[in-house]
Amino acid sequence: MAPSENEEQQNSVNQQQDAQETHGTNQGALWGGRFNAGPSPELEKLSRSTHFDFKLASYDLAGSSAHARALAEVGILTGSQLDSILEAISTLEADVSSGAWVPAESDEDIHGALETELINRIGADLGGRIRAGRSRNDQIATLIRLYMLDHAEVISKEIAALISALATHAEKHSADPMPGRTHLQHAQPITLGHHLLAHAWPLVRDLQRISNWRARASVSAYGSGALAGNAFGLNMELIAAALGLDDVAENSLDATASRDVVAEFAFIAAMVGVNLSRFAEEIILWGTKEFGYVKLHDSWSTGSSIMPQKKNPDIAELARGKSGRLLGNLTGLLTMLKALPLAYNRDIQEDKEAIFDSVETLEVLLPAFTGMVTTLEFNLERMREQASAGYSLATDVADYLVRKGIPFREAHEITGALVQVAEREGKELEELSDAELLSISSYLDAGVRSVLSVDASLATRSGSNGTSPTSVRLQLQKLATAIESITNF
Ligand code: ARG
Repeated sequence: MAPSENEEQQNSVNQQQDAQETHGTNQGALWGGRFNAGPSPELEKLSRSTHFDFKLASYDLAGSSAHARALAEVGILTGSQLDSILEAISTLEADVSSGAWVPAESDEDIHGALETELINRIGADLGGRIRAGRSRNDQIATLIRLYMLDHAEVISKEIAALISALATHAEKHSADPMPGRTHLQHAQPITLGHHLLAHAWPLVRDLQRISNWRARASVSAYGSGALAGNAFGLNMELIAAALGLDDVAENSLDATASRDVVAEFAFIAAMVGVNLSRFAEEIILWGTKEFGYVKLHDSWSTGSSIMPQKKNPDIAELARGKSGRLLGNLTGLLTMLKALPLAYNRDIQEDKEAIFDSVETLEVLLPAFTGMVTTLEFNLERMREQASAGYSLATDVADYLVRKGIPFREAHEITGALVQVAEREGKELEELSDAELLSISSYLDAGVRSVLSVDASLATRSGSNGTSPTSVRLQLQKLATAIESITNF
């Protein structure tokens, strides 16, 4: 016999109660009406993001206030309802920041946790009104941008501090020579200031990248709803402005489903990491007995648990290692986004841990790295002594011959022969006698000795981008101007 309609209804109620008893209520999740059974514990565990997205709580509440105002503006909330909601949001905000209120184990995500608590405080009739015209999809797309924008400011300041540490050393050492290398082989003498500034400029470009990225990141997705937009004529500009964002997204599908600005920020973070790793690698090398160019300050290096004599460049090594992790976050994000159909898909939830990790990695790495750089002690004597090693003045000899009217091709040949003789005799170029020089070429007269000096070599590289001490001082001014022109951080 077919069950009567009444029996069917009763069955469904019983099933719901069963589900609630077995799985608890669907408390903490913002859905459940069309389900007869609560989520399995395994699903809940997989789906739950509260433990990592709770750090977005203050942004979520700011979004809720702005949204409530927009709802009131179109008459969905009355003035007094708005006031009560805003007041409840602000006390909840205070409780969140003091730690007086924390989400429950059953809260699926930050949005559910805060909305459920709002309802607990002001009742379902009032608290349940705030969700009109919005979805977690447009919420989270906006909140992640707010988070990144705030941290972009912190990271920019840290990068600027590192640039300034490099510039301080560069100014002091604008005339101190060191070996310049290509292929890690001695190439030509350079100034230490020039080398240090070569690590500063990529960081200036990272600052410019962040500043340029802000224009794309400062966009509100609010008003997009789940994907199609909202049906209440919400004043989206008002919401954006309340959140300190410059623009409203032009397309609700794009607004909720795209994460290119997240990937772009992860790229910048990875680029910063890679830039640090290149200097880190040099600091590690420079600190070895073989190089002996730098000494690390005790407070910015570590010891060994077994070898008492050791002093290790752990900050530099961690910078090198963490650059891999930053790259991993970028790769993970791009891979998650690849081929993802429109609009929102749950895959996108994976953006958060990656970007949080990139941000937190840089925020812990940059201050330590800057401290290590600031306190670096350079062994200027050792660097000067090494600056002319490996026949690094050979190009100066070739340039000398060019100035005498010899084609560079021939000058290169003559100088090559000179190096061969020096190598055979086991001498430095300047140690060869006048007779030995002349036996190689009649052009190699005593005048060539004027270029066989590191300081002379440095002074000749006096183009604005060159390594001469005067060029380096000019470069320092340009660096300061470049930083000043990066306005918005
Ligand atoms: N926690 C999700 C995220 O971070 C936002 C919630 C959207 N969930 C959903 N089922 N539509 O992306």
